[in-house]
Order: sequence, then structure tokens, then C-alpha cells
Amino acid sequence: MRKPEVSASLLSCDKGRLAEEAARLEGAGADRIHLDVMDGVFVPELTFGTGVAKAVKSSVSIPVEAHLMVSRPEGLIEGFVDAGCDSVTVHVEATKHLDRLLQRIRELGASPGVALNPSTPVEAVMWAAGLLDMVVVMTVNPGYGGQEHLDYVRPKIGAVRRLLGSAGERVLISVDGGVSADNAAALRAEGADILVAGSFIARAADPASAVRSLR
Ligand code: DX5
Ligand code: ZN
Repeated sequence: MRKPEVSASLLSCDKGRLAEEAARLEGAGADRIHLDVMDGVFVPELTFGTGVAKAVKSSVSIPVEAHLMVSRPEGLIEGFVDAGCDSVTVHVEATKHLDRLLQRIRELGASPGVALNPSTPVEAVMWAAGLLDMVVVMTVNPGYGGQEHLDYVRPKIGAVRRLLGSAGERVLISVDGGVSADNAAALRAEGADILVAGSFIARAADPASAVRSLR
């Protein structure tokens, strides 16, 4: 099993000071910064654009991952790569051309990821195993921070790993939604490589101990 990583989401941080918040999360020991991009169409809320991605990237030295919860990811990928995002994750539900999109992300020089909504079957990524660096298993319905973790989705983590097989051995499995110290061990036991956490770290009096408790 790989060493567990914690990816800190900026969604529940102070929106007026995002670059400082990202630096604070890096200081707390986060391995990655997770930028939740919402377009008001794929999900109801609107959040961060490429300008914010650039400001965040320039304030940290750890990788920044863009999680695109948008209905037309094809038009936005290049902007987020240019802004310095190290990885770009698209929702399989948002595109008819997943294969092409993943290839494009790689060509642009970023690491390609695919996110699956809670009800989306794992088979959606089966034929993309060789194109992917990361599968994000959503354990909430995307759109908001601070939602309740859907524990019945957890077995999907192992299901993704089995499905990817040897073609996807190097693919990282990330879990996003309602992650806390209460479920981190169970998520690791299912095979999660990366734990994305927003409100659990943002609400903690001591973010560094929150990050440690997830690991
Ligand atoms: C939800 C986002 C998550 C969110 C997680 O749509 O994709 O990354 O920030 O927040 P918590 O950890 O509060 O569920
Ligand atoms: Zn996310």
C-alpha cells in the first residue's frame, strides 16, 4: 500500500484570502491543494477560475489539483494547466469524450484524473485505465463542502482498484466528500491513496493535527 496523502480543499476556507489559506494548509502538512471549480451548471454553485488557480499555485510548493465540476470541461482544461495546476480532474458525467479529454490533459503537461459521482458505475473508467493518473471517488454529491459522508459508496474504492487491474496499477485513488478522522481509517482500508478534506481541516482549531489525524 502507498503512503497516504492528504489533499486539502480550499472550498471551506476564507474566500477573501485564498492564497494565504493555501499556504497555511501547506504549512499544516497537506500533501496537495485541491481546488474545487464549479460552474453553476454541472453543480449549482460558482467558485474558482483560472486567476485564483494561478494565485494559489504561486503561494505553495506542493501540487495543486483542479477538480472541475463543470459541464463543459473541454473549454477550461488549457486555462487551468496554464495557471499552473499539476493535475486536472474531469467528471465522467460531464463529457461524451473522456478519452480525448484525458489525452489532451496529458498533452498539455498535466496529470489527468477522472471523478465519479456516487451513483456512477465504476465501469465508466474501465477503458481509460491506461490514460489516467487518478480516479476521484465522490463520497458526497458534488457541489458543496461540509456534506455528510455517504458511507455506502465506500466499497466503490476497492471496486475501482479491481477494475483498473494491472493496466491501472500506478493510478491513484482519491476519495472526496465528508472525509474526517472518523472515516479515514476505513477509507484507507478500502484502498484510498489520497484523502481530500475540506471542512474537517478548515473547522479544526489546529489544522496540522487535523491533517495528522487523517494520515
Ligand atoms: C465537493 C467537493 C469537495 C469538498 C469536500 O463537491 O468536491 O472537494 O471541498 O469538502 P468536505 O471535506 O467538507 O466534504
Ligand atoms: Zn473536490
